[in-house]
Amino acid sequence: MPLRACLPPSLSTMKCFSYLVFSLMSLTCMAGEVRSGSILTPGSVWPDTDGRAINAHGGGIVFHEGVYYWYGEFKEGRTFLPKVNKTWGGTRVLAGGVSVYSSKDLVTWKNEGLALPSLPENPDHDLAPENVIERPKVIYNARTKKFVMWFHQDSPNYQAARSGVAVSDTPVGPFKYLGAFRPNAGVRPLNASASDLAPAPGNLLARDLEGGQMARDMTLFVDEDGTAYQFYSSESNQTMHVSQLTEDYLRPAGKYARIFVGRSIEAPAVFKHKGRYYLIGSGCTGWDPNPAHSAVADSIFGPWKELGNPCRGEGAEITFGSQSTFVLPVAGKPGVFIALFDRWNKWDLADSRYIWLPLFIDANGHPIVTWRDRWSLNELE
Ligand code: GAL
Repeated sequence: MPLRACLPPSLSTMKCFSYLVFSLMSLTCMAGEVRSGSILTPGSVWPDTDGRAINAHGGGIVFHEGVYYWYGEFKEGRTFLPKVNKTWGGTRVLAGGVSVYSSKDLVTWKNEGLALPSLPENPDHDLAPENVIERPKVIYNARTKKFVMWFHQDSPNYQAARSGVAVSDTPVGPFKYLGAFRPNAGVRPLNASASDLAPAPGNLLARDLEGGQMARDMTLFVDEDGTAYQFYSSESNQTMHVSQLTEDYLRPAGKYARIFVGRSIEAPAVFKHKGRYYLIGSGCTGWDPNPAHSAVADSIFGPWKELGNPCRGEGAEITFGSQSTFVLPVAGKPGVFIALFDRWNKWDLADSRYIWLPLFIDANGHPIVTWRDRWSLNELE
């Protein structure tokens, strides 16, 4: 198919040019087995091996048996502003489900289809396109040999604030949907005081103790001992919870802590380096960018110490016009990470872009992400 034939008509000339350049680069690179010289250009259109723009937003990556799998929100079609979200500017596309791409080199991505499709024929289902399917993360359970997906499942007005779970025998799915719920119903946090738990106007933790805690933006993290955790923005996004999962990774284990209390941090991405836990996140301004947050902890349940905005260089004060989604430890290169961000296009969400940049821990133990127009995976030594 000629390259132009697969371009959406709305793409500008500029975009067409970068699309063409990258399509040619990817075709050239596909010839070689090892593409360690391949260049990443944050913010341009990234084509898959079919020449189509990669469609995997708010995503995360699993490395399994020599292959990287990139899962993300499949965003297609018209962006609209539902009446129910008008006050806060929450534009939407109908939820397409969760897409998955595979790669051996982090640059050449093959479309493996929808790991978890939305269900247009079933308007009452959690996975109906009118509902929200965001920030999917997949982890592999070595004990059960299953791939487990968690994501932010919500009602059209984002008030259900739940976590959805799905499971698959293979990385590309199809994943079997197990349902959505508010985590930790009936469970007290490890670190709540009596006054935290006392019902009072505005005390959302206490309000939701029985029915389960609100859960919007989220990520998963598997520790070296195989224990998995969900980090989710809770209590109307004001406070984050870190919640241990059961051994099969399918439910909360009933042990969780409140972290960043009242700090309104979302878009969490968690990783570990030299025995310490790190988190990159954002402030809560919807699709609009804001200064990133970073933090470190010796114990996953905290206390977490905030380290400020980890971004450096052009656009650092607004996270390069993007929002965190994941931090990928590069296989075979201890201490080397790639930070993944989404540059949302709030009036054309399907044309949102990816900002991937190297992340290093500096001599003071702070994570640092520096802007680069283009960079090579070769540089990650
Ligand atoms: C952001 C969030 C995104 C998406 C968006 C909706 O705050 O990080 O994942 O939910 O709001 O406007």
